[in-house]
Amino acid sequence: MLKLSVIGTGYLGATHAACMAELGFTVVGVDVDQNKIEQLSIGNVPFYEPGLDELLKKQITAGLLSFSADFSAIKDCDVHFICVGTPQSKTGNAADLSFVNSALEKVAKFAKPGSLVVGKSTVPVGTAARLRSQLKQINPDVELAWNPEFLREGFAVEDTLNPNRLVVGVIDDKSEQVLKQVYSKNLAAGIPWIRADLPTAELVKVAANSFLATKISFINAMAEICEAADGDVTVLAKAIGYDPRIGNKFLQAGIGFGGGCLPKDIRAFMARAEELGAQQALEFLKEIDAINLRARQRVIELVRKDLSNDLKSKKIAVLGAAFKPDSDDVRDSPALDIAEQIRSAGANVTVHDPKAISNAQKRFPNLNFESEIEKTISGADLVLHLTEWKIYRELDPAKLKSIVKTAIMIDGRNALDQDKWRAAGWKFRALGRVAK
Ligand code: UDX
Repeated sequence: MLKLSVIGTGYLGATHAACMAELGFTVVGVDVDQNKIEQLSIGNVPFYEPGLDELLKKQITAGLLSFSADFSAIKDCDVHFICVGTPQSKTGNAADLSFVNSALEKVAKFAKPGSLVVGKSTVPVGTAARLRSQLKQINPDVELAWNPEFLREGFAVEDTLNPNRLVVGVIDDKSEQVLKQVYSKNLAAGIPWIRADLPTAELVKVAANSFLATKISFINAMAEICEAADGDVTVLAKAIGYDPRIGNKFLQAGIGFGGGCLPKDIRAFMARAEELGAQQALEFLKEIDAINLRARQRVIELVRKDLSNDLKSKKIAVLGAAFKPDSDDVRDSPALDIAEQIRSAGANVTVHDPKAISNAQKRFPNLNFESEIEKTISGADLVLHLTEWKIYRELDPAKLKSIVKTAIMIDGRNALDQDKWRAAGWKFRALGRVAK
C-alpha cells in the first residue's frame, strides 16, 4: 500500500488527507501552522465542513492518519500532494504563489527518490512546468504531476470520495500508473479518468470555475433585465434550465458568487492570459466580475429605496455571513461585503450566522453579531437574507413580524417563499423579481 503525504492542511488539504486515509492509505498531513497541526492531531477540524470531523477522528483512531509540523515526516512517502492556498495577491489580480513555491522547496528537500509530487492547488497555467524544473534541479529522481481538485465547500468529503471526474496532468506513464493506484477505488466505481498534459490539467480547473462564474453572472444579468422589464428571474431560470443543454444548476440569481475560489480564480486567469498575450480571449471575464460585484450594489440600492435613502441609525438585521450555506468560510463573502457597506453608510447592522460568526467577527470587527435569530431581528427597520441557510427558510414570518419595527424583508438569494412572507404582512423584495 502506498504511503501518502499532504502538504497544506486547509479546507482542501485536511479533507484530502482524511479522505485518502478513508481509501485505506497511510497519510501524513504537514503544515507550517503549528496550531492547526496540534488541533488536527487531536481530531479537531479548525473550520466547519460537514462530515469531516467524524472522518478525521475515525482515521486518526484507526492509525492511518497523522499530522506533523516537521516536513521530514514525509520522507517515507511515495506520493506527496501539494494542497496549499493560492490567494489573490495583495498587489493585483494575479495569484500569490508563495505558498506553492515554498511547499515545493520543502518537498523537494525531503522526498525520497522515485516518489511523485502531485499538485492539487489551483495555479496559473505554466506553474507546474516551472515547479517541475525546480524540483528536478534539487531532486532529479522525483517526478511531478498535476491533479486539480474540484471540491465544493460544504460537500468537500463527498466530492473527494466520489468526484465526478479525475483529471491527471502527467509527463509519463509511470506517474499515471501511480495515480491510478491512488484512485483505484474511484476507477473501479467507474469515475471518468482524464489523462492530460501539465498545462491542460492546470487549465481544466480555472476553465471550470470560469464557466461556473459565467453561469451565475449570466443569470444575475438576466435578473437586472427582469427588474427593468417587470419580469421574474426565478421563473425565467426554471424555464431555461429545463433545456438539458443549459441545465438548471448554478442559475440561482442573487447577490452573486464569493468565497476562496471563484472570484480570485477568474481574476488570476485574466492576469495569466495577459502574460501569455491572450488577454482578449478572457475579456468577458471582466464583465462577469463586474456583474457579480454589481449584484451587491443592487441589494444596497433596494435597502436605500425602502428606507427612503436614509440609512443613518436605522437598524438592519442581516441573516447570513458565510459566502454560502453549510460553510463557515467568509472569504470574499458577498453577505459581509453588503453588511459592511450598509454599516459604513451609517446604519446599525447586526449579523446572524449559524457557523461563521467567529470568522466574520475577525474580519469585520465593526459589525454587530448575534447568535440568536430573534435577537438579531428584534426592533429591525429592515431584514436582509444574504446566505441561504436552511434554518432561514424554516422561519415563521408571522411570528417574526411581531418583533421587528418595520416588516421589510429583502431576499438577496431568492430562496425564501415570497408568498408566505407577503401573506404574513411583510413587504417582500428580491433581486430580479417584481416588487409588489
Ligand atoms: C467552487 C467550485 O464549485 C468548485 O468546483 C471548486 O473546486 C472551488 O470553487 P465553492 O467555492 O465551494 O466551489 O462554492 P460554490 O458552490 O461553487 O459557490 C460559489 C459561490 O457562488 C457562492 O458564493 C454561492 O453562493 C454562489 N452561487 C452558486 C450563486 O450565487 N448562484 C448559484 O446558482 C450557485
